[in-house]
Amino acid sequence: MCGIVAYIGYREACPIILKGLHRLEYRGYDSAGVALLNGDLNVYKKKGKVAELEAFIAEKDTRAQVGMGHTRWATHGEPNDSNAHPHYSTSERIAIIHNGIIENYAALKQHLQQQGHVFHSDTDTEVFVNLIEEIQKQNSCTLEEAVRLALHEVVGAYAIVVLSRDEPNQLIAARKGSPLVIGVGKDEYFLASDATPIIEYTNEVVYVNDYEIVVIKDGQLDIRSKEDVQQTPYIQKLEMALDSIEKGGYEHFMLKEIFEQPRSILDSMRGRLELEAGHLNMGGIRAYERKFVNADRIIIVACGTSWHAGLVAEYLLEDLARIPVEVEYASEFRYRNPVITERDIVIAISQSGETADTLAAIELAKSKGATIFGICNVVGSSIARATDAGAYTHAGPEIGVASTKAFTAQVTVLTLLAMIVGHKRGTLSDTRLRELMVELSSIPAKVEKALLLNDEIELIAETFKDVPNFLYLGRGYNFPVALEGALKLKEISYIHAEGYPAAEMKHGPIALIDENMPVVVIATKDSSYEKVVSNIQEVKARKGRIIAVVTEGDTVIPAMAEFVIEVPLTSEVLVPLVSVVPLQLLSYHIAVLRGCNVDQPRNLAKSVTVE
Ligand code: F6R
Repeated sequence: MCGIVAYIGYREACPIILKGLHRLEYRGYDSAGVALLNGDLNVYKKKGKVAELEAFIAEKDTRAQVGMGHTRWATHGEPNDSNAHPHYSTSERIAIIHNGIIENYAALKQHLQQQGHVFHSDTDTEVFVNLIEEIQKQNSCTLEEAVRLALHEVVGAYAIVVLSRDEPNQLIAARKGSPLVIGVGKDEYFLASDATPIIEYTNEVVYVNDYEIVVIKDGQLDIRSKEDVQQTPYIQKLEMALDSIEKGGYEHFMLKEIFEQPRSILDSMRGRLELEAGHLNMGGIRAYERKFVNADRIIIVACGTSWHAGLVAEYLLEDLARIPVEVEYASEFRYRNPVITERDIVIAISQSGETADTLAAIELAKSKGATIFGICNVVGSSIARATDAGAYTHAGPEIGVASTKAFTAQVTVLTLLAMIVGHKRGTLSDTRLRELMVELSSIPAKVEKALLLNDEIELIAETFKDVPNFLYLGRGYNFPVALEGALKLKEISYIHAEGYPAAEMKHGPIALIDENMPVVVIATKDSSYEKVVSNIQEVKARKGRIIAVVTEGDTVIPAMAEFVIEVPLTSEVLVPLVSVVPLQLLSYHIAVLRGCNVDQPRNLAKSVTVE
């Protein structure tokens, strides 16, 4: 949700910033811009993708060794040139880029207009930069001081970078609620929303904390609290590899990430599932093992695809560990005055680790004394840092906006968690644990096999690419998979799709079924197989077009379905890890055939840092 990048050092800033913006484009792509400080403070910005900005500035003077850039996901004001960032102050002496939302911008704007400030956009950000300018004028203070004072007046979330023509060779940044990372090089510094624009220059980073202000001036990094107390930067080494953020020969990041799943699932188990030694370890829960074992209930908070992983975890934890589980949309939970006690464990699931609603849900649960366990993919992210303990999914960077490998990695980690807790509680026997460990170890190979269906699925996609609606049905562990399949399709192909528990169909959605309605049924061999077969009969009786995901060797459903996708047999509790793969591929191919931008679907952003 908006990407920001900045550079100060000895190299040409503009190429570094543009490359960084390309890397961050998955965070927002409705407009982009740069500000370059070189005696003058020049701002260039354009509606559209970073490539359009690049073309626009090709002939401009972009020489500068200090600069910043922004790729936008619109919150206030439609995507157009003037709403694009950076924004100038009225005097054009100060410029800002901003990721987040200023909630009290309307009142501030009115006040600033009375002081003579002129606005050229509909954004909350332009208010921020004018506030800084006004404060500097009123107090005759430095830019740093003006930024600090301004931060006391704004309400909302921000990661900002500010440049001033009057104080060259200086870059000021601050964060509250939106991510910000500093890359520490030799005689140079980088700032970005995440580490992807930084890693090709340095692997040393500092994650900026909420309420910190960063001043980089004359080659020195200074981090201070909002109260102006100097902080000691904690420099961490990044382990991210450059090729993990490049397409590596695939047409799209999404396809690459779907195909990475055998590897990413293995990575999420690495060091945690030791088959030969017969051990399961999860460092993150060690200190909280007793809490888990004695928990009255577990509440899972998440959004979108991560919420679907949470639903799978509900089945897993209730099945294997016999702990009652509630799965909550973080956005509802945080405003519902939920009943939470000190005996509750809250599991927050988030790929990005930055989702604003999930963060707020964590803060609420914390304030009521619950223990918070995080499952995040992005190392060092806000959620990872806000939780008491947790486990990283180790899926590697996920760039495609539609989440794929992050989902299967989340489910893998949640499976391990349920197995560990179930075994400790005595609800999962040694024998059953051993069986599941063996089966879980074979999942990467089974996913590999499911990926061989790619060409077959592309042909199915060809048949259905022009339909306006889809229905997805599943039961038990495959119910969250049906939801996930429908979400994948709608977000990247813009086809309306709904996921339903198969048996619920007859309570409403069955009215939609006629000879034009494709119905994807996830009907693998499990305890509800016979029931799902009956549901397929119900669809068939109404002439619905059945696409069935079945277990290899099934002879019953192929006689009923128009298309059959066969996946390898696995244990019922692990089936989502395999059955979701063809659904990811189906949505991918349909979207490509419809000419959609699968990696950057309209209106979406990868990490939703506003509520
Ligand atoms: C769907 C998708 C979104 C995210 C949701 C939560 O493909 O990517 O629904 O799952 O925005 O994001 P995280 O997991 O980063 O909290």
